[in-house]
Amino acid sequence: MRISTIKKCGLLMMISTLVLSACQSKDEADFTPDKALHFASKQTNRLLAVAVKADKIPRTIDAKGDMHWTHDGFDWTEGFFPGSCWYLFEYTNNKKWQEAAEHFQQKFEDHRLLPYYHDLGFVFNCSYGNGYRLTGNEHYKQMLIDAGNTLLGRFNPNVGCIRSWDVDKGWQSKRGWEFPVIIDNMMNLELLFELSDITGDAKYAQVAISHADVTMKNHFRNDMSSYHVIDYDSITGEVRNRHTAQGFAHESEWARGQAWGIYGYTLCYRYTKNPKYLKQAEKIADYIINHPDLPADGIPYWDYDAPQIPNEPRDASAAAITASAMLELHTYSQKDYFTEARRIIESLASDNYTAKHGQNHNFILKHSVGSIPHNNEIDVPLNYADYYYIEALLRLKNTEEKQTMNIAQSN
Ligand code: GLY
Repeated sequence: MRISTIKKCGLLMMISTLVLSACQSKDEADFTPDKALHFASKQTNRLLAVAVKADKIPRTIDAKGDMHWTHDGFDWTEGFFPGSCWYLFEYTNNKKWQEAAEHFQQKFEDHRLLPYYHDLGFVFNCSYGNGYRLTGNEHYKQMLIDAGNTLLGRFNPNVGCIRSWDVDKGWQSKRGWEFPVIIDNMMNLELLFELSDITGDAKYAQVAISHADVTMKNHFRNDMSSYHVIDYDSITGEVRNRHTAQGFAHESEWARGQAWGIYGYTLCYRYTKNPKYLKQAEKIADYIINHPDLPADGIPYWDYDAPQIPNEPRDASAAAITASAMLELHTYSQKDYFTEARRIIESLASDNYTAKHGQNHNFILKHSVGSIPHNNEIDVPLNYADYYYIEALLRLKNTEEKQTMNIAQSN
């Protein structure tokens, strides 16, 4: 969520941006973070009107082309729409967005105590976490503490990780897993690190560090592509299976998993300043940037090893997460991740991926993928694609403003 430092290489960036824009399409040349953010608030304003009328949280559109709301029970995506409202409150300072975020996040407040779900970090950090950062509301802080404590209940010291799915029901019970951990769960660690900062209790960060270290050891292949699911023996901590659930194959590279990895290790570095996390994030990012099957516009296919490339769906959500993560990574690294992040964001802001006003059921981005193996949410808008896109735009705006200030100060 936060980027606190900025490198002083603004001039070079500015020049390369100017050179790049000379050979860009009109769409891309017209791009500025402010224009894209202005559109994001206009489009989300329409989505908000529909959501208020239904009094439900928008998630995506279904196979028939109708709005699909988050489930009434727990839904891992329920925090993203209120999270987008918080980001738009941050951008516009318009109280309407704060009220919307508060209204919709309140709907799942009770879920903080549910012990069966691993996604509490996503759900609560993106909603209540942003709310606490922007308002300092003590009630939000307590909701975050409760969610973090529930999440700690899923930590197994023999494994050193927080368990992802329970395996006693649903499709997860049919895979023969004992203690599955998915790469996505790196994203829970932001809530835990943040809780140690705001409570002064080290126990949350200790669990986060253990989870990050065990994941670093077991989830990555030598080339820095990642497994989606590592299944552990809950007594010995040994790896039982290296599998996928949402990727093309056990040995393939699921695009969003790679994105969660960069984001996850970048945030580990933010809180610990341990260089091994920075190196890990750089290596995952470099793997993506140099991948021969990454299309020229920087928006990946849903899996880097999908069998029909180039005739495979793209995943704009993976691109948005990657761009946002790379903008933060750039502030810590000696390498340039800004150029790639900006390239991705410009592509997302183009007509190829951004909907026309009032279309796409009022979501911002088109062309994301939920899970192809589950035949679910293929080539659709997704609330988390929009959330990470708005986050990336805010980060880009801040970065460019700081670059401009640095140039002004050095003249
Ligand atoms: N479980 C989060 C995702 O689909 O990326």
